[in-house]
Formats: sequence, C-alpha cells, structure tokens
Amino acid sequence: MTALSRERVVAVIGSGAMGAGIAQVAAVAGYTVKLYDSRPEPVAKAMSDIALALNKLVARQRMSPVDAAASLARLQPSLTLDELAATKPGLVVEAIVENLDAKRALFAQLENLVDDDCILATNTSSISVTAIGAQLRVPGRLVGMHFFNPVPLMALVEVVEGLATDSAVAQTVYDTAAAWGKSPVHARSTPGFIVNRVARPYYAEGWRLLAEGAADAATIDAVLREAGGFRMGPFELMDLIGHDVNFAVTQSVFEAYFNDPRFTPSVLQQELVNAGFLGRKTSRGCYRYGDGAVNAPA
Ligand code: NAI
Repeated sequence: MTALSRERVVAVIGSGAMGAGIAQVAAVAGYTVKLYDSRPEPVAKAMSDIALALNKLVARQRMSPVDAAASLARLQPSLTLDELAATKPGLVVEAIVENLDAKRALFAQLENLVDDDCILATNTSSISVTAIGAQLRVPGRLVGMHFFNPVPLMALVEVVEGLATDSAVAQTVYDTAAAWGKSPVHARSTPGFIVNRVARPYYAEGWRLLAEGAADAATIDAVLREAGGFRMGPFELMDLIGHDVNFAVTQSVFEAYFNDPRFTPSVLQQELVNAGFLGRKTSRGCYRYGDGAVNAPA
C-alpha cells in the first residue's frame, strides 16, 4: 500500500454534493481535510450536512460519538486557495463544475500554490483527464479520482489515467481510495470512463420513451426499479445527480465522440436545466421534493 500518509492534508475544492461527500469520507478515514469553494454558502452547507450525516450514524450506532467528533474536528473550511495551500496538502480533489475551461483554470492556479509532490485529482464525470492536465507544467501529477453519488454510500471509485498521468500517482490514489474504505478500479481516460459511458443509454432511452409518450417518468422509473433490477430508475437517478451535472456529462460525451447520435443530449432535459429545475438540490426536477412530497410528479 502506498496510500497518502495520514500526516498529509487532503484538500477538497468545490463543496457541492460531491465535494461534501468526499470530504466526509476522507475525514472519517482519519485525514485532515480542508474544504474550499468559490462561494461561502456551499462550504457552510457542506459542514452542516456532514455534521448531520455523522450524527445520524451515531444515532444508528454505526459510529461512536467520539469518532464522529474526531472526524468533524479534522474537517476545516478554507476561505482562500492561498490559505488552503499553506496547509501543504498531499492530495487535492477537485469537484467543481463539469467544465473543461473551469477545471483547467483552477489547476493552473493550484499548480503554482501547492508543493511539487502534491497530487492533483479531478472528480470529473466525463471530461478527458488528458485534456484537463495537458497545460500543466507537470501533467503527470493530474489523475482522475471519480466518486459516485452519494459518496459515503457508493463504494466504487474510478481512478482514471490520462495519457500523461504518472502511473505511480494513479497507484497512490488507488491505494488512498482503498484506505478510505472504497473499491477503486483503474481506468484509462475515455469519454465518460466506464460507468458514465455505459449509463448514457440508460438515461437517453428513458428520455426517448418519455418524449414518445410510452409512459410517464414515474412509471418508467418503477418498471426499471421493480422489474429491471436497477436500484433507481433513470429519472429519479438524474434528479439525485442533478440535471445540470447530468446534462453537462451527456454533452461532454456527445462532443468527445464527434457528435455520435447515440449520445445526443435530450431537449427535455435541456429545458429542465433552462428552468433551473435541477432535481433534488432545487426541490424540483422530474419530480417535486419537500413538504413530504418526495417523488411527486413535477
Ligand atoms: P455541485 O453543483 O453540487 O457543486 C459544485 C460546487 O463547485 C459548487 O458549490 C460551486 O460553487 C463550486 N465551484 C464552481 N466553480 C468553482 C471554482 N472555480 N472554484 C471553486 N469552487 C467552484 O456539483 P456536484 O454534483 O458536486 O459535481 C461536482 C463535480 O463532480 C462535477 O465535475 C461532476 O461532473 C462530478 N460528479 C458529479 C456526480 C453527481 O452525481 N452529481 C457524480 C460524480 C462526479
């Protein structure tokens, strides 16, 4: 095992659904975690969501109060990237918006702030790890560390190597994910990697069925869940993921495969994004949430 030493800080950048989950898992595994976001609100929400999640584990006797308190004490917000870099992180996990330019700009900035031995990891769902790292001075230290939602519950982590990724860096990230209690798998950087590539037709055919009026979203979800053996139907799953994220991933895979029609994004989903109906995180997507109305039709 060459997992990152617990003496080293883990920095998580982007404190939305994924960043919060990654920070929780790393802190529970014994690492000091610095959590940063370009806006203060997501950091505050992530801190309180994690406290709530750990309290629930204590209430269910799945974690001791002492371990929960120690995990929370290891988790600290950072107000600036400079402050974060001053803690000399050994691993930065980026979980910001699914956009190549935004990720490149962040890593270009980070490269000048962190030590040379700091691993730069991206939680991108679909964007080429090769492309994200290509403009770095040392592209070898950029690797994909792709978690699944909700991070504390989902075991799989895809450790994605771009063409220039140093395989020792990938192995350290693989071993670190294992030390965090996850089940990592090595993958090469291809559009959507393994899971998001195979999952694209699941969403796409759901949208096509809906557009053709075969059945409503709740019926399609119920059929896939109850007869298909899937844990979630496509629409409830996209509501969990976030339509902004899911749409951006489909667009990215579509473009990466030179507009292969198999991956054509859905105009129905585009309209949800246009409306800001992003799923659970905005209380409305394919379904409405809140006031006890979980899975009510939108
Ligand atoms: P989110 O929208 O919940 O959170 C993104 C956060 O990043 C926001 O709080 C935003 O303020 C912050 N942010 C945006 N630009 C930033 C910047 N330049 N610097 C610092 N913070 C910035 O998104 P979510 O769902 O957490 O996704 C984040 C990443 O993880 C994306 O790349 C996404 O594709 C990937 N991912 C998402 C999954 C999901 O199910 N939602 C699953 C696996 C990966």
